[in-house]
Amino acid sequence: MKANILIIDDDTSLRRVLEYNLQEEGYAVQAASSGEEGLYLFGKSRPNLVITDMKMSGMDGLMVLKAIKERSPETLVVIITAFGTVDVAVEAMKAGAYDYITKPFNRDDLRLTVGKALQFSGLTEENRRLKSELSDKTDFRTIVGSSKEMEKVFEIVRKVADTEAAILITGESGTGKELVARSIHANSSRRDAPFVAINCAAIPRDLLESELFGHVKGAFTGAVKDKIGKFQLADGGTIFLDEVGDLPVELQPKLLRVLQEKEIDPVGGTKIQKLDVRVVSATNMNIDKAIVDGTFREDLYYRLSVIPIHLPPLRERRNDIPLLIKCFCSKHGSDKITFDKEALKALVMYPWPGNVRELENTVERLLIMRNSDVIGLCDLVDKFQEKGPSGVAIINLPDDGYSLEQLEQEIVVQALERNAWNQTAAARFLRIPRHTLIYRVEKYCIALPGNR
Ligand SMILES: Nc1ncnc2c1ncn2[C@@H]1O[C@H](COP(=O)(O)OP(=O)(O)OP(=O)(O)O)[C@@H](O)[C@H]1O
Ligand SMILES: [Mg+2]
Repeated sequence: MKANILIIDDDTSLRRVLEYNLQEEGYAVQAASSGEEGLYLFGKSRPNLVITDMKMSGMDGLMVLKAIKERSPETLVVIITAFGTVDVAVEAMKAGAYDYITKPFNRDDLRLTVGKALQFSGLTEENRRLKSELSDKTDFRTIVGSSKEMEKVFEIVRKVADTEAAILITGESGTGKELVARSIHANSSRRDAPFVAINCAAIPRDLLESELFGHVKGAFTGAVKDKIGKFQLADGGTIFLDEVGDLPVELQPKLLRVLQEKEIDPVGGTKIQKLDVRVVSATNMNIDKAIVDGTFREDLYYRLSVIPIHLPPLRERRNDIPLLIKCFCSKHGSDKITFDKEALKALVMYPWPGNVRELENTVERLLIMRNSDVIGLCDLVDKFQEKGPSGVAIINLPDDGYSLEQLEQEIVVQALERNAWNQTAAARFLRIPRHTLIYRVEKYCIALPGNR
């Protein structure tokens, strides 16, 4: 999908340079030699981006900009101004230009400005689509999953969303903890009140207390005015305490008090404030171990995890992978793109240490880099095709163990698939007697084509 750019400039040589450079970058380019012609072409082809010179005889850049913004406020316009005419650029920005380039410019200036603008327009388009989707889909269906592990998660979310119970979501990085937290909020009667997220691991220790609970002016050096904490911001809604396992020990009693008393007392303040906040927290840390080590208070843990929700790593719910891939393709506007069997199998077998986030990034990259509408094994980078010395795929075992039976089942299915579901051939392939294969097919309830 090439981005479409319209250039408007009455200076022939500059127009040619722009046209040439942008074509070199792989964009589809149209050029007009006057504002009037530019608007005509704009109406016909609705480009993703318009680059217009400011000073032109007849209709100038500002008039072009205003006319475009009137017809299509979403279209991004970059203007070209002469060196030393910053006031003109400012005026254009006020009238809705996205950015400006000053003459003379080099190829890199142009490339960067255009790249940034197009990236921004991609984002806003995506946001618009997501927002419109959100209005009729603010429920847990935005979390994709069909495995029995995820079905369990959906069931808990459905049951607890509209209660006041504190929820602790655990799972490795990228398993969707924040997504689940947001869907809990969206499925509760608090959905129209704020959802406020705070990452306890990302904020320096000495600032965290006032970030959470606020402070009053003069509470400490540097507290030049009152600060409203995240808890106050979330009043009536939900607070999401991300990476709660990293909450410093000295702050834990204060949080415990807030949860118990449902009131906060801002740093340096004398007035206690009543609050109505639902608490959802998440961690990818092993809290049991932190409790044993004395870095996390057990009483706080129980307060936070009235309802625990565990998100299993992706490698333990590989059934979800094909569906997730499909959803990410359509999220990135590539519904028609498919993956051939070999590529899909490699993606399903990969251990995904970065979980769903890594899968989404991988799919996005494959969609950009692909050579055709069918993505094959050759499009995947080496990490998906890792082979051991004997040509057998290396199995990256998860830290918390892996069922040998599940592995055996996967191998049997793959051997059958490779041998067109011929059991004699598959048994030979696995170097086992045919009756042993049949026994395993029955044991694992593997559905053979025709019996499905
Ligand atoms: N089941 C899912 N369906 C669709 N998208 C998902 C799913 N799980 C995760 N994602 C996507 O993967 C990315 C990571 O999810 P999220 O931020 O919720 O993970 P996390 O567990 O909070 O990770 P971290 O511990 O690193 O903060 C997000 O872009 C999210 O939308
Ligand atoms: Mg997160």
